[in-house]
Amino acid sequence: MTKFYEQSPEERRAQLIAEGALTALDAECLAESGLHADVAANLSENQIGQYALPIGVARNLTVNGVVRQVAMATEEPSVVAAASNGARLANLNGGVKASAEPHRVTAEVVFDGLANDGDAERVMAQHRALLFAVAETAHPSAVKRGGGLKELTCVRRGRFFVIQLTIDPSLAMGANLANTIAEAVATAASGLLDQPALVAILTNGSSELVRAEVTLSPATIATKAGNGAAIAAKIAALSDLAQSDPLRVATHNKGIMNGIDAAVLATGNDTRAVAAAISAYSKGQPLSTWQLEGDQLVGRIKLPLPVGVVGGAISALPKAQAALRLGGFDTVANLQMSLAALGLVQNLAALRALAGPGIQAGHMALQARALAMAAGATGTEIEAVAAKLTPKVRDLASARQLLNELRGKQ
Ligand code: MEV
Repeated sequence: MTKFYEQSPEERRAQLIAEGALTALDAECLAESGLHADVAANLSENQIGQYALPIGVARNLTVNGVVRQVAMATEEPSVVAAASNGARLANLNGGVKASAEPHRVTAEVVFDGLANDGDAERVMAQHRALLFAVAETAHPSAVKRGGGLKELTCVRRGRFFVIQLTIDPSLAMGANLANTIAEAVATAASGLLDQPALVAILTNGSSELVRAEVTLSPATIATKAGNGAAIAAKIAALSDLAQSDPLRVATHNKGIMNGIDAAVLATGNDTRAVAAAISAYSKGQPLSTWQLEGDQLVGRIKLPLPVGVVGGAISALPKAQAALRLGGFDTVANLQMSLAALGLVQNLAALRALAGPGIQAGHMALQARALAMAAGATGTEIEAVAAKLTPKVRDLASARQLLNELRGKQ
């Protein structure tokens, strides 16, 4: 059988259908070129077009024993190949183990300049039941699904009095729910405190963390350039470097985000919310570590991943829903754990390449195809031109010249 990466998109969809990972309807949806005009017009103000990206699939990412096909939307040619490669290496070692803390979103109702004499705290405590009732009335359907406001605490931040609302958004990412509840609570609390709130808004900082871990036997990560033990030692050293070097850590984390961002986007989630939560949490530190433990290489990642599997654009974007079904992401925890696992194996693939042949070998072959397309090559011309774009002539002018020569010959 032809290898998955050598197949046409139609053949790949057919294989995923045969594997039971993709429904025929979702395959049709993925094959379509764009959004329905009504959907596009209603997802953005002043809509003038659609922005298309390829959706690739990271194959067989095994998380807690479940094998998942992860849709990824990205413009970077090597990312999906690296993710699949990382997943394959993890699978040689039993896959990735992951866990997620309960999914919560926090909102803040903030008052400016209230006297710090304990009065505001007392009023909130007295009317706690009322404030919970207000939150419930603001979004009764969330409460019916077992979600809604779970905790209300008061904190002082300098001159600001902050009511923190911890909300269970159930299957949604929770931004809309949190903001609706926060605004309702703000109105009620303003009445009780006799002062309008300064602001009522969710925080994109998230304290709930997702963890993933993989233990690799060095023999399984050997490359042509080095035996497994040498590669494992270099990966551990690269991890140490990311802890010590503020310039390297950005690129270390970028490699992780290559995977996470692409899957967050493909599932219709808010890439900015995820990026904001991660940057607030990581404070310039590496999101993952790789350590030699005995003779094994152990990779760990820990990060917040504020995503949902229903609501917002997710429900409006048919391809996002197809991506969620393809991955079997029926709960937020399933999606979060797979995103963390994906980030970890993406990181593994990058570090292994850096520890071995370097990344340009793999990157440039794919880059050559991108150059060929930029020069105007289509169909079989793409591969024909890319194959001739050797490192010394890998530029757009050479690609154009090669294309002209090729067409001249035909
Ligand atoms: C390229 O998009 C990502 C890498 O630079 C990540 C890394 O250096 O770890 C390969």
